Amino acid sequence: MEQMLALEMVRVTEAAAIASARFMGRGEKDGADRAAVEAMRRAMDEIEFAGRIVIGEGERDKAPMLYIGEKVGRREEDERRDAPEVDIAVDPLEGTNLVASGQAGAITVLAASEKGGLVNAPDTYLEKLCVGPVVAGKVDIRDSPTDNLRRIAEALGRRVNDITVVILDRPRHDALIAEVREAGARIKLISDGDLSAAISCAVSGTGVHAVMGIGGAPEGVITAAALRCLGGEIQARFRYRSDEERARGARMGHGDEDRVYSTEELASGENIVFAATGVTAGDLLQGVRFFGGGARTHSLTTTYRTKQVRFIDTVHMFDRDSPPRVRL
Ligand code: FBP
Repeated sequence: MEQMLALEMVRVTEAAAIASARFMGRGEKDGADRAAVEAMRRAMDEIEFAGRIVIGEGERDKAPMLYIGEKVGRREEDERRDAPEVDIAVDPLEGTNLVASGQAGAITVLAASEKGGLVNAPDTYLEKLCVGPVVAGKVDIRDSPTDNLRRIAEALGRRVNDITVVILDRPRHDALIAEVREAGARIKLISDGDLSAAISCAVSGTGVHAVMGIGGAPEGVITAAALRCLGGEIQARFRYRSDEERARGARMGHGDEDRVYSTEELASGENIVFAATGVTAGDLLQGVRFFGGGARTHSLTTTYRTKQVRFIDTVHMFDRDSPPRVRL
């Protein structure tokens, strides 16, 4: 079931990637996002499951599609009783600005789990510390970035100045950036996309060793699902931007801002599936490449229980009458 779902989910992220990649460089971030959302919704409705969006485009009154609580899947209401119940967290397009300006690193992404296996996070911020499998269990977000960098370097058998940390380029990170520089580590400042960066930590060869700083909470839950499958680790604390967000977070059971959430607490499911497809080329995935009659996509899917990671290179033929030449 988990493996079947993983392949189905890749078809969903692929469809969203192809739809949003058409908007590359067009300066239309909302258009790119809408295209991804609509394609994702359509593709999910072809899957035989009783899916429920637990992290999506926002509340029902604000989002026409993929809103929290929305049901997805092919089964009709009376058939849904026997269909597997699956909770889904989506970020239809991570990096809307990146696509709009034709920059690297945008992905379409989702995570799925049995019911209750993904935390219900409000649309706010999380302070995050993400590392890959070799470093997992050796860092503590409550300690200083300097201490954590020392531990990351030790675990990886490197010097601190051979470690690369990804940080979102935001004024709220000025002190963090100064401290990481002072500690001697290298920094990759990104304009968007801390989810994709966090997955890169768990894939050796990407040149990314840690992600630090404050980013989206929904992205944090999806990151947890991916890192749980890949053996990496995220530690996170809620960081609210307003009293309204704080109150909403508290109503959802996340009132304690000192509480550190572990990977397992954010994504507790036993049947977790994660899927992502590149929209624009990045450290981890190639972007969508269009050619006469088709497109080629590059995706990653991973499963927790069955411990599998697949990189999937797909040629999509749009027109069977004049199919594209499939190249290696
Ligand atoms: P989009 O999904 O809107 O493209 O945002 C991507 C992102 O950069 C995430 O990767 C990150 O977690 C979050 O936005 C940061 O939020 P903010 O831009 O408010 O700092």
